[in-house]
Amino acid sequence: TWTAANVVDSLVDEVRAQVGADRVLCALSGGVDSSVAAALVQRAVGDQLTCVFVDHGLLRSGEAEQVEKDFVAATGVDLVVVDARERFLTALAGLTDPEEKRKTIGREFIRVFEQAARDVVSDRGDDEHPVKWLVQGTLYPDVVESGGGEGTANIKSHHNVGGLPDDLQFGLVEPLRSLFKDEVRQVGLELGVPEAIVWRQPFPGPGLGIRIIGEVTAERLEVLRAADRIAREELTAAGLDREIWQCPVVLLADIRSVGVQGDGRTYGHPVVLRPVSSEDAMTADWTRLPYDVLARISTRITNEVREVNRVVLDVTSKPPGTIEWE
Ligand code: XMP
Repeated sequence: TWTAANVVDSLVDEVRAQVGADRVLCALSGGVDSSVAAALVQRAVGDQLTCVFVDHGLLRSGEAEQVEKDFVAATGVDLVVVDARERFLTALAGLTDPEEKRKTIGREFIRVFEQAARDVVSDRGDDEHPVKWLVQGTLYPDVVESGGGEGTANIKSHHNVGGLPDDLQFGLVEPLRSLFKDEVRQVGLELGVPEAIVWRQPFPGPGLGIRIIGEVTAERLEVLRAADRIAREELTAAGLDREIWQCPVVLLADIRSVGVQGDGRTYGHPVVLRPVSSEDAMTADWTRLPYDVLARISTRITNEVREVNRVVLDVTSKPPGTIEWE
């Protein structure tokens, strides 16, 4: 019979047989798949695994801490955190085109990860125990989609960017390649991965970088992070997390409108709430959130985030609208 405990046991055996005494590397993004894959490999080979988390500064409130503190405490993984926040801000300066932002974030991510991978290879490996393997959170649907062949080493789970350079050749460890998403979550819970990660809704690799319409700056990220945190808190408090596929909060940073906040006239920015219901993100409908929940989110954001004086609801299905605004 299928139980998460049985699956963990047999996957642990498979990973041990595959990697032997070699060292293993994993790029952690904070998402479900890479986190569960890493936790499983850690269970199998312990400190032979080193995880790398690139903090690009485009995550939501609390997410970096979830990886750096909660995930490490729960699983005991050896984690290298690369603080690349300044580097990403510099690379994104002046960019407004969505595809250029994506390309820039993807390119910077792979550069930072490559450097970190080289450091791990020289710091953690030795002749008898070289760093030979890269963990990927590939799931069964990904395998089917790509024709079932063996993948090449790319950072698919994160940014859909290309392969690693020739001097970084790794074999792939893909312990989740026979599992569906709901099975991965069960396995994650069995392994003690924090629930906030196991049940995390989809979040794009380029993160908040594509939820600021206009140039990405440190100040704008702060504003969006604050508004997004409030929306997530209220949706969670209302028990709606599992009903909603995801709810992007989007900052229209180049648009200003007049408002009255406190005693005076303000000239602030709108944020858009984009709650969607979906099975697979290919199509989606806008979620009919209860009015009282919408009202609480709106009131709190405009009270607590000084720069935002208007909260707008996106009522477009996909198609024609995509889930993200960029
Ligand atoms: P759209 O906006 O195309 O989004 O309806 C469909 C799903 O994909 C996510 N998304 C991305 N994920 N890198 C990612 O890893 C990206 O560049 C990207 N763009 C969109 C989006 O959040 C939704 O779940």
